[in-house]
Amino acid sequence: MNYRRLGRSGLKVSELSLGSWVTYGNQVDHAAAREIMAAAWDAGVNFFDNAEVYAAGKSEEIMGAALRQLGWPRLKYVVSTKFFWGITDGPNEKNTLNRKYLMNAIDGSLKRLQLDYVDLVFCHRPDPNTPIEETVWAMHDMVERGKALYWGTSEWSAADIRAAYEIAERHHLRKPVMEQPEYNLFTRNRVEKEYARLYEDIGIGLTTWSPLASGLLTGKYRGGIPEGSRATIPRMKFLVDDLTDKSKNEAVAKLGDIAKELGCSTAQLALAWCAANPRVSTVITGASRVEQVRENMKAAEVVPKLTPDVLRRIDASTAAFAD
Ligand SMILES: NC(=O)c1ccc[n+]([C@@H]2O[C@H](COP(=O)([O-])OP(=O)(O)OC[C@H]3O[C@@H](n4cnc5c(N)ncnc54)[C@H](OP(=O)(O)O)[C@@H]3O)[C@@H](O)[C@H]2O)c1
Repeated sequence: MNYRRLGRSGLKVSELSLGSWVTYGNQVDHAAAREIMAAAWDAGVNFFDNAEVYAAGKSEEIMGAALRQLGWPRLKYVVSTKFFWGITDGPNEKNTLNRKYLMNAIDGSLKRLQLDYVDLVFCHRPDPNTPIEETVWAMHDMVERGKALYWGTSEWSAADIRAAYEIAERHHLRKPVMEQPEYNLFTRNRVEKEYARLYEDIGIGLTTWSPLASGLLTGKYRGGIPEGSRATIPRMKFLVDDLTDKSKNEAVAKLGDIAKELGCSTAQLALAWCAANPRVSTVITGASRVEQVRENMKAAEVVPKLTPDVLRRIDASTAAFAD
């Protein structure tokens, strides 16, 4: 496993990491989560991604219990959480990045994770109803109080990220260090175009999500919806059209041919492609089973095989369907 700096910060994260969306508290219980995290750790993963809203707090509880049982030294792993949607009802508890919510939310997450601090904390979405300045001050205070080490954003526009950075600079506050966008062979524009100027200008690092487009890029949806897959979960129904899209699945078949030539799986090729972008600090993978972790982590060995010629062929197979 290689370790990369998180943007311009000094923190090093494994180029492949592991997140808990959909899986923990839904598909995966305490024991399975622990096993999945242990397999990732054995492969060199040092970053575990979470969010308050995942399974309404349960995902944090499960990860917290697993970390406690696994007993790894705190210095050796990086844990995140994210805030915006909230898990209780009320005008200051949902869909907000106001100071009151954020200050309360971090305490809840730390309790569920059984940690004194999280390494990374993200503003999970932009909040058009709270001044960015209020959010920046709250995130700064969260870091100053030792409850988080670095803060960043997730799916913010380039303009809002730059505004947050400039407010922090003006007031000598903690600056946003990282952004968490979706990035995979079918979702590219934000990372490759919209954020293009941010990397050099403000040194933002990326922790990217859904590298396999929820499983589409493994090739497993080419013959329909497999039993036990994410597409069979009732509340994930919104993904089904995309996962079973004929053109995309044909493009995935072409990727499969390239993968075969390189001696890897389609999933490994798709993950390696994300990691091959130097703007990406870490590719956050997801897994509902240990075998998936074992397969996916080997993608690190595929990254050096992505020569300019291979990348051109991957583009030719998929770019027509990418946003
Ligand atoms: N910031 C945000 O807004 C945001 C949003 C989404 C995700 N995230 C983060 O990013 C992480 C990864 O996202 P994701 O789970 O959507 O990633 P993904 O890699 O696109 O999808 C992972 C899912 O694909 C299937 N899969 C993975 N490896 C496989 C393999 N080798 N063979 C067959 N199936 C395989 C599994 O689902 P099944 O086995 O159930 O089919 C797995 O749960 C999340 O856990 C979360 O931490 C962040």
